[in-house]
Amino acid sequence: MIRAILLGSGYVGTYLAVGLERIKKGLVGKYGIPLAKYPLPYKIEDINIVSAYDIDSSKVGKTLFDAGAEIFGKEYDLPETLKDIPIKKGIHLKSAEGLPIKATGLEEGRSVKDAIDELVNEWAELKPDVIINVITTEEGRAYKSKEEAVSAILDGKAPATHAYAYAATQYAKQSGRKVTFVNAIPTPVANNPGLIELFNETGAIAFGDDGATGATPLTSDLLEHMAQRNRFVEFVVQFNIGGNTDFLALTQPKRNKMKENTKSSMVADILGYDAPHYIKPTGYLQPLGDKKYVAMHLEWISFNGFRDSLFISARINDSPALAGMLVDLIRLGKIAVDKGLSGTVYEVNAFFMKKPGPEGAKNIAKTHAYMQLLNWLGLSRYQ
Ligand SMILES: NC(=O)c1ccc[n+]([C@@H]2O[C@H](COP(=O)([O-])OP(=O)(O)OC[C@H]3O[C@@H](n4cnc5c(N)ncnc54)[C@H](O)[C@@H]3O)[C@@H](O)[C@H]2O)c1
Repeated sequence: MIRAILLGSGYVGTYLAVGLERIKKGLVGKYGIPLAKYPLPYKIEDINIVSAYDIDSSKVGKTLFDAGAEIFGKEYDLPETLKDIPIKKGIHLKSAEGLPIKATGLEEGRSVKDAIDELVNEWAELKPDVIINVITTEEGRAYKSKEEAVSAILDGKAPATHAYAYAATQYAKQSGRKVTFVNAIPTPVANNPGLIELFNETGAIAFGDDGATGATPLTSDLLEHMAQRNRFVEFVVQFNIGGNTDFLALTQPKRNKMKENTKSSMVADILGYDAPHYIKPTGYLQPLGDKKYVAMHLEWISFNGFRDSLFISARINDSPALAGMLVDLIRLGKIAVDKGLSGTVYEVNAFFMKKPGPEGAKNIAKTHAYMQLLNWLGLSRYQ
C-alpha cells in the first residue's frame, strides 16, 4: 500500500481522489495515466489517500466526498470511500491573498515553527509515503543554501509550499520514514538548491516543478520534431484561457510570472536557440470552466527558405490531465524511496514536469524523457 497526503483539495486534488476511487470500484478505465500499461511494483489500486489539507474555511473540516459533490454535483456516482478522507487545516502563509476565499491557517495566533511542528506530528500519525502539493500557485524564490531556506521559512517570509516542503523533510528526519514530496505547481522546490540540500540531508525526495499537462508538453514535442528536421523556428505562440480558480489566480501578475517561468524554459533547451516566444496562461473566462481553450501557433523556415506554419486550437479538460499524471507520480515517489534515493530525480521530473529539477537541468522533449523514464524503470517501449 502507498499512503498519500494531498495538499490542496481544489480541482486537481479532488479529481485525483475521485478518479482513483472510481478506478478501484471498476467504474472507469485507466486512460490518462501514462504508465498504466506497464508492470510497476505498485498497482494503481495500492494508492490510499489518507488525508487532504486546505485553507479554505468552507472546505476545512469536511471530506473529499463533499469536495467532489461540490464540483461534480450530487447526481454523479461518487464513491462513498471518499467520505473517509478528511480535509484538515493547512498552513496558509497568504497563499490565497487576493482570491475570493475565506482563508484560515494553522499558523494563526502562533509562530510558523509551531504550525509546522503540529503538521509534522500529524504526519507522524498519518505515515505518508508521498505528499502531493496541488495548492494555488504562489510566488516563491530559490534559496542558495539550506540555512537561507530555513530562516526564510521559520520567519514566515516563504510561501506555504516551502513551509510544506520543509515539514516533509522534518517528518522524514523525526520519524525515520522515507517520503517523496511531489511539487506539481510552479513555486520552485526541485529547482531550489537550498530546499534540495534539506531533502538530501534528511533522505527525503522532491519531484518537480509544475506538472506538464495540456499544451506545454505538446509544444516541447513539436519543438523536438522541428529540431530533428533542422527547421528553423521563427516564433512560438502558446496560450490558454480557462474558467477554473487556477486561471483566476493566474490573472495576478506575480503568480502568472511563476507559471511563465516554468513554461518557457523549454524553448532554448530543445531548439538550442531561444526562438521568440509567448508561452503563458493569458486569461480567465468563467463559462469555460475546467475545460480550457488552448491555442498554439508556430512558424519555421524549411528547405530553400520556405516558411511553414502550424495552428492548433483545442479544448482540454485541465484538472484530469494532471490528476492522471499524479497517479504515476505517487507510485514513482514510492519506487524512488524504495530505491534509497534522496534529493530529486531528474528521470522522473524530465517527463512529468514543466521545469524539471534540479536547478539548471535540461528541459528535453517529452518523447525523449519518456524513453529515459522507462529505462530508469527497467522497462522498454517497444517490447
Ligand atoms: N492541468 C492542471 O490543472 C495543472 C497543471 C500543472 C499545474 N497545476 C497547478 O496545480 C495547482 C492546483 O490547481 P487546481 O486547478 O486544483 O486549483 P484550485 O484553485 O481548484 O485548487 C487549489 C486548492 O488549494 C487550496 N490552497 C490554497 N492555498 C493553500 C495552502 N496554503 N494550503 C493548502 N491548500 C491551499 C485552495 O483553497 C484550493 O482548494 C495550481 O497551482 C496549478 O497551477 C495544474
